[in-house]
Amino acid sequence: MSGGIDPGSFAPRLVAWQRTHGRHDLPWQLSRDPYRVWVSEIMLQQTRVDTVLRYYEPFLRRFPDVRALAAAELDQVLAQWSGLGYYRRARNLHACARQVCELHGGEFPRSREGLEQLAGIGRSTAAAIAAFCFGRREAILDANVQRVLARAFAMPRPRDAASLRAMWERAESLLPATALDAYTQGLMDLGATLCKPTQPDCLLCPFAADCPRDATVPPPAAAKSPRRAARRTLEWVLLWARSDEPAGPRVWLQRRDPQGIWPGLWCLPGHDDASQALARAAQLGEVLRQRARAPLRHVLTHMDLLLRPLEIWLRAHEGVADADAGGAWFTLEQALALGLPAPVRKLLAAELDGNPVEAADAGEQG
Ligand code: ADE
Repeated sequence: MSGGIDPGSFAPRLVAWQRTHGRHDLPWQLSRDPYRVWVSEIMLQQTRVDTVLRYYEPFLRRFPDVRALAAAELDQVLAQWSGLGYYRRARNLHACARQVCELHGGEFPRSREGLEQLAGIGRSTAAAIAAFCFGRREAILDANVQRVLARAFAMPRPRDAASLRAMWERAESLLPATALDAYTQGLMDLGATLCKPTQPDCLLCPFAADCPRDATVPPPAAAKSPRRAARRTLEWVLLWARSDEPAGPRVWLQRRDPQGIWPGLWCLPGHDDASQALARAAQLGEVLRQRARAPLRHVLTHMDLLLRPLEIWLRAHEGVADADAGGAWFTLEQALALGLPAPVRKLLAAELDGNPVEAADAGEQG
């Protein structure tokens, strides 16, 4: 057993490793523009790099700068975010863009403290933006970095304010005087690529010789089983009310509550069973016929959703949308321009293309 990692050697070793083995060509690393870095950091908060890569450039094409994002409607932002999950991030992104424009003349604050005042930017994200874009000597401490430091310095994973404070102090004490961005990126890269939650690749790690990780890493089985046991499945009958009119078919969508699953997104309304869905359909119009579609399983972070679409053709009553401010009729094209949950988007897009979804699994977080 070694005496552990010398804290003074941690940063230079990490920087040397990052320069040869870290990631250098992720699209957000090619820019010091705080708008582009901020968007990437928010997308990366609960989402893996390979998923973010599919959303990042299209998002920036749609909203090329902070003013374009601030000028957009929230629904347009949610539509662009659709499929990335954790939709609160998109709402905060929009709110933050407006704060930057209204309170800071369209320029992001340059200090960690100033960035932290903005919607959806916590201390670690603020520190990452301040370090990457403005060269500030600030420590990051997201969940990956907590795991790296806990292993490297045999510290407890923070569970309360006192242990979190101790870890922030450790993170700050390790900061090098130079090469801040390679160091910050190195912490992210080590946590994501080698020092993984289970089965870390210790053989490739620059700290393998003196890391006391065995003192802190739980065995893989113990790390996995509580999550497995806690998963449950929630079942919804999705009311797919459609009204075929001379101008084309329309679909009834309802905006979801700002709290809970898919906050603020437009959705086919979910019901506990088919009779409730039918009763709701009868309020929307005269029911003509119905058809149960193949169920879809959709994976959320903490549970699975089993979605049973129930397609109901009806002759719409006039004025229901006015009486029920939470819902409205949309053409398929209009619907697809809204913020929709991924499985609903998939159903409606397939319908527009004339290839109805038969049965599928859709994965998304949040
Ligand atoms: N995770 C959080 N921020 C990141 C970044 N800038 N690059 C790669 N992974 C990250």
